[in-house]
Amino acid sequence: MHNITLIKGDGIGPEIIDAVVEIIKAAGVDINWDIQIAGADVIEKEGSPLPNRVIESVKRNKIALKSPVTTPIGKGFRSVNVQLRKELDLYANLRPCYNLPNVKTRYDKVDIVVVRENTEDLYAGIERQVDENTAESIKIITRQASERIAKFAFDYAVKNNRKEVCVVTKANICKLSDGLFLECAREISKNYPQIKFREILVDNCCMQLVQNPNQFDVLLLPNLYGDIVSDLCAGLIGGLGIAQGANIGKDYAVFEPVHGSAPDIAGKDLANPTAMLMSGIEMLNYIGETDAASRIKLALFETLNADIKTFDLNGNAKCSEFTQAIIERLKVLAKC
Ligand code: NAI
Repeated sequence: MHNITLIKGDGIGPEIIDAVVEIIKAAGVDINWDIQIAGADVIEKEGSPLPNRVIESVKRNKIALKSPVTTPIGKGFRSVNVQLRKELDLYANLRPCYNLPNVKTRYDKVDIVVVRENTEDLYAGIERQVDENTAESIKIITRQASERIAKFAFDYAVKNNRKEVCVVTKANICKLSDGLFLECAREISKNYPQIKFREILVDNCCMQLVQNPNQFDVLLLPNLYGDIVSDLCAGLIGGLGIAQGANIGKDYAVFEPVHGSAPDIAGKDLANPTAMLMSGIEMLNYIGETDAASRIKLALFETLNADIKTFDLNGNAKCSEFTQAIIERLKVLAKC
């Protein structure tokens, strides 16, 4: 039996995470879910969108599965996601991005892993209103955080038989901050002679990604570029509905999709649970449930191959229908 924190989120969060919990249950994995609610809904009662009980739960269980939480834009409380990553020191944001079967896009054979630094950069949220007409944000980049994320990217590359790590910065303009990130990546790369090391500026990287994504393998980026580039990469393979992610630290790991709470489709049974499911599959691999992880992935791929797809992938299955189709395939696989 595994004890795992379940952060339900809001918007499409509850629909997609409930779907994934149902699928994991159907695969026969014994999990005691410690359900924790965070976000706007708990502020009034508990005084914070991320009450301490949520952090304590992840500290206790070490692992969490999380669906998206809405952050007010331009005002209101600080992002629950950013705070969670900071409080638990989940320094590595890992976003593998590859084509799924029967999901047609402009590109074939995309296989990129985005490794995003997850604790600093402009996400530190250090901002001030200088005067009525001027605002200031401070971009923090430290040697310690840059070295450890570079090391994470190279270790990941070695462990997963990847060939190249490409560091992405704007060090021609942000000479000190991005310059330090780049310098650390260069230094760390020397310890991994078996992995090719490449450097690229973020603007050129975006252009190259849409022109020829197949040239990229592992991308290593500071926090903000990593956020933007991983959405771009999601677009290469069919959109946010299928883009998985994980936040990993020394002691804890929180698995969550790349996408947000999608308020435009919330509560309509239209969301694609695939990104959430792929994140759940990686969580199962992480906790050693590799057999169940493989079966779920196979059931998902068979469902897509049978042309059962949600609206974002030009299909007509509702979130609930897509989920049931995966569960039906899992039942068939169990009998094989
Ligand atoms: P979003 O990712 O929620 O949505 C962007 C577009 O993608 C929308 O058209 C949406 O309908 C579509 N989409 C996203 N996920 C989908 C899915 N599973 N199936 C089908 N279509 C899907 O980004 P947006 O609108 O910029 O942000 C909404 C809220 O989410 C904001 O408050 C933002 O701060 C928050 N957010 C939370 C994250 C997290 O909790 N980790 C990550 C990113 C954003």
